[in-house]
Amino acid sequence: MRVVILKNAAAVAQAAAEESIHRIGLADLNTPATPLEKPVVIGLATGGTPLGLYRAWIQAYQSGQISFANTMSFNLDEYVGLPPEDPRSYHAYMNENLFWHIDIPTGRSFIPRTNVSNLEESAADYEWKIEQAGGIDYQILGIGSDGHIGFNEMGSSLASRTRVKTLTKKTRLDNARYFDTLEAVPTMAITMGIGTIMNARSILLLATGAGKAKAIRDTVEGPVTAMVPASILQFHDDVTLMIDEEAAQDLSQREYYLESEANRRRIEQTN
Ligand code: PGA
Repeated sequence: MRVVILKNAAAVAQAAAEESIHRIGLADLNTPATPLEKPVVIGLATGGTPLGLYRAWIQAYQSGQISFANTMSFNLDEYVGLPPEDPRSYHAYMNENLFWHIDIPTGRSFIPRTNVSNLEESAADYEWKIEQAGGIDYQILGIGSDGHIGFNEMGSSLASRTRVKTLTKKTRLDNARYFDTLEAVPTMAITMGIGTIMNARSILLLATGAGKAKAIRDTVEGPVTAMVPASILQFHDDVTLMIDEEAAQDLSQREYYLESEANRRRIEQTN
């Protein structure tokens, strides 16, 4: 795992934007002459953490540096029980915070459909759509304070695919800030599985704030266990964690990660 420790949330957003623009190739996609090859498939996350990254992408798009014209996207999850037009749904979140401000073609961004009569069928169909798209090239991830990724809560099968999950009380409490009451927070979601996420070719996980410190320590330095779903990322060969000082505060090897990054920059400069 590559662990990049940055000063604060703003620095994480900036570094994440630079890294993802480079890795996805968003600047090259900007050239009108770019042949329309298979779109690059981006996995997207919701929540408070990726907002700074999305703002940076929007800014780069609006100033003509990047384009999403040859991308498609799959979001990690959606609540069950909120129609897409509900402002608290992840459909609404993505429209407001990203899709309405960039040039990703209509019909190429997918979010699990939960306002359907058959949730299991919808989850299976989502998994199939990801497969048809050729899999996810670059996945943006947040992390729950309990170590969940997507809505894969503690105890989730580490091989799971897209399916319906019941949310833990902790997750509902964490997300209650977006709702009037705790009771109003949905109790279920459709989420990509851990196996689905692990199939992404590259993963960028972002975490900021002291509330994530324990989850980050368990993810990077703890044993791989379904009780900390993000710990499975230790088995992925292309994961970058970009975290701020607060989220890094419990890491025992903090100095080593800083030194590794300094060396990486040195090598990049000499290339
Ligand atoms: P947050 O959520 O970015 O709002 O902290 C992350 C998550 O629960 O995965």
